[in-house]
Formats: sequence, C-alpha cells, structure tokens
Amino acid sequence: MTHTNPFPPDFLWGGSVSANQIEGAYLEDGKGLSIQDIMPNGIQTPPTTEPTEDNMKLIGIDFYHRYKDDIKLLAEMGFKVFRTSIAWSRIFPKGDEQEPNEKGLQFYDNLFDECHKYGIEPLVTISHYETPLHLSREYDGWINREMIEFYERYVRTIFERYKHKVKYWLTFNEINSILEHPFISGGISTPAERLSKQNLYQAVHHEFVASALAVKIGHEINPDFKIGCMVIAMPIYPLTPNPDDVIKVMHADHMNTFFADVHVRGYYPGYIKRYLREQGITVLFEPGDEEILKNTVDFISFSYYQSCCETADPLKQVKGEGNLIGGVQNPYLKASEWGWQIDPQGLRYIMNAYYDRYQKPLFIVENGLGAADELITDHNGNKTVEDDYRIDYLKQHLIQVAEAIQDGVELMGYTTWGCIDLVSATTAELKKRYGFIYVDRHDDGSGTLERYRKKSFHWYKDIIQSNGGSLFE
Ligand code: BG6
Repeated sequence: MTHTNPFPPDFLWGGSVSANQIEGAYLEDGKGLSIQDIMPNGIQTPPTTEPTEDNMKLIGIDFYHRYKDDIKLLAEMGFKVFRTSIAWSRIFPKGDEQEPNEKGLQFYDNLFDECHKYGIEPLVTISHYETPLHLSREYDGWINREMIEFYERYVRTIFERYKHKVKYWLTFNEINSILEHPFISGGISTPAERLSKQNLYQAVHHEFVASALAVKIGHEINPDFKIGCMVIAMPIYPLTPNPDDVIKVMHADHMNTFFADVHVRGYYPGYIKRYLREQGITVLFEPGDEEILKNTVDFISFSYYQSCCETADPLKQVKGEGNLIGGVQNPYLKASEWGWQIDPQGLRYIMNAYYDRYQKPLFIVENGLGAADELITDHNGNKTVEDDYRIDYLKQHLIQVAEAIQDGVELMGYTTWGCIDLVSATTAELKKRYGFIYVDRHDDGSGTLERYRKKSFHWYKDIIQSNGGSLFE
C-alpha cells in the first residue's frame, strides 16, 4: 500500500443520522405519527397498533431539544457535512394535507442554520424509513400511486423552503431494501407474507417515479442542487467457483443494481424486464413515466456495512444476519457482535464496481460498527469509552476507501453512520452504539441523556484535520 494521501482537498468528512432515530419529541409542535412510532422492536416484530412506552424512538436521544449542543460537538470534530433526514410527519403530519406544518419547517430552519454557523453542510435524506403512519394505514404506502403526489408536495415544500440552506439531497434511504422490508422501507401495511410481487414492484415503480420527479423539481428550483439516490451496497461473492454459484450471484446482484441502474440510466434494464415477465408481473407505467425517469441523479450514495455470499447449492444456503438484506455467510470473515460480517476490502470492491458501471461521483453516507460500549472514567476523571475496536473498524475501511480513490473512483465524501449514539433501525436498541459521542440512555428507559466524547471522537477529529493523512502515520 502506498502512503500518499489520496483524499481530495474538498472531501466532505462527516457523520450521518436519521430524524426518527435521534429526534424524539414524537408529537411535539404538530408532528404526526410515523411508522417508526409503532415499531418498538424495529423489524423484529410486527408493528403495534399505537405508540408504546417501550419504543426508544419516542424520546430518541432528545436531539429535538439538544441539537445545538450536539452540532457544537460535531463541529468540534471538524465535520464538513452532517447527514440527517427530515421527518416527513413534522412537515405534513398525516402526509396528505395541502398545507405544511410551519413549526416543523421552523425546526429544520433552525437546525440547518446551526450547521452553517460552524461551516457544516447539511446532507438531507428526504425519506428515511419514516413514512407518515396515516399514509401507510389509509393508502398502504407506496403501493398506491397517490403517494407520488403527496411526496411531490412534500418535496416542493422543503426544496423551496431550504433552497439556500441545503445543497445535497437524497431521495429515499436504502431504496433497495423495499424488496425485503416493505413496511419500514415502503410504508406498505399489507403484511409481507400476503403482499403480491405485482404490488411490490408497482410500489418500487412509484418510488422511482417520485425520486426522478424530485430530481427534476429540485434542479428547477435550484440548479446547484446535487441530488442523489441512496442504496444498500452489498458486494455478493460466489461461495465457490462453480459457474452455478456465479450465475446465482449475477441474479442476486441484478436484484440490487436494478435500483441504482434506473436512477442513473433512467430506464428499466433488460434483465429486470425479463425477470418481471417471467414472474408474470406487469408494472403499470402511466403516460409520462418513461420521460420522468430520464431525470437521472447527480451522484450515487450508499450505505456499506458488509458483504455476503451466494450459492446455488440449497444445502449450503445458511443465511447470515445483516443490515436489512442478507445473504449466505462468508467463511473467511469475522462478524460484529450483532452478526454483521466485517469486510473492509468489500468497500473498495463495491466502489470500483459502481464507478466502473456508472462513471458518476459516489458518496459513502453510512459505514460503521454497532457495538455495546462501556462507559468508564479515565485517569483524568472524565467519562469516556475506550472504543479501539471502532477506531480499528473505521480505519480499516478508510484505508480501502483511499485505495479505491487511487483506483480512480470519484468520491464526494464519507459520513460514518450514527456519529452520535442513536436508536438502532433493525432492533430498536440503544445498546447497539455507533457513535463518536456516547449518549447516556438505555433500553430500559434509564439514563441522564448526557453526552460524552469517546476515544474515537479524538481519533476522527485527527482524521478530518489531516484530511485523512493521519491514516497513514
Ligand atoms: C441502515 C439504515 O440500514 O443501517 C440506518 O439506513 C440504520 O437507519 C443503519 O440505523 C444501521 O442499522 P442498525 O439496525 O444497526 O441501526
């Protein structure tokens, strides 16, 4: 490995969160319920009928009231960019209203102003697993074409309002997760086991049209906007060199790349047309849809946590754990405490694969290690976490990022997931911590909500200050 620092001078270093995992204040200032307010166990159990006290997201880490102090801490680390989402149900509490909720809009005005005070650029996910509950219950989420209209109204509202405050936008978080998790990802309330593939792919199509419309509208409102898609990046390796396994990988890859392909190329690729035909699925295109899809994204953003394997051999198909989409376990890799297999080289691999395929800038908007941290008191009497394992994880991944940049990949930035501890998406635990900043709150509801700098806080500060140079010391 070479020791030259390849990170470009304007590289966007930062961290990433979502509204529903940090804000809390779930009914404050006119906010309506979102699907997250009835998911006390993440994706592990079916949703409840009403919000229940054991749902950690109702309070989150109380970011809604503490954002000023939190942004100050992120600024202390030297953040150039902060990725969060706008909670749709703060702006349109039910989702199908004509007029937005002014208090919700004001909150994000204040938040973005606070970021700019420190020279931090906001990067905003428009829809991050937090569909307004009413849209899920009354319309069955994205199965219903009317969702496009509601999303369009929401998008126009926030684009107009924040056109001078936000430049970077992502249309849907991990849009490809809808195939496996239609409720959290697509707000679809029909239980997965009763959901037809016909309806599922129709929902996907509606999201594609909505996403492309957002790109069109955004560029009309402010031509300087940079609008990206956001997908789960998951390299899939054949379990063996058996050509049957390789073809299985090709098919599995297609099910994923379909999402970025439509966003970047502006049309449905041949492999998916064949798949839909063979499955007896007819996706209904309304007049004009084909044209709308041609509004392609400015960049591709993605989350990266792990790779997986595929095999055609049914006897070897032992599913791994994973971030919303999973595959067969790789015998060469170790896993996190939550069973997610760790593969830094997979990040270099997938960056090259995307760049070779699209020749468009990439943005890594999620990467990180969920671990059960222990708060200790150091020899100076300060409370902290000695999270060397997190430092090691991030360092190994960033070294591979540097390799990919040297391979010629154009990368806009890197935001670690959960830069401040937050509530997990898949398990809804607070115990699964990703942050550089420890938040004193626990799954039994106890804790002071105080914030403490972990060891990784100081490490990441050095990384940013040296523009990645300290990785090579
Ligand atoms: C991604 C999501 O799936 O992974 C985040 O975009 C999520 O919302 C992150 O939190 C990590 O997953 P988890 O389950 O550990 O929170």
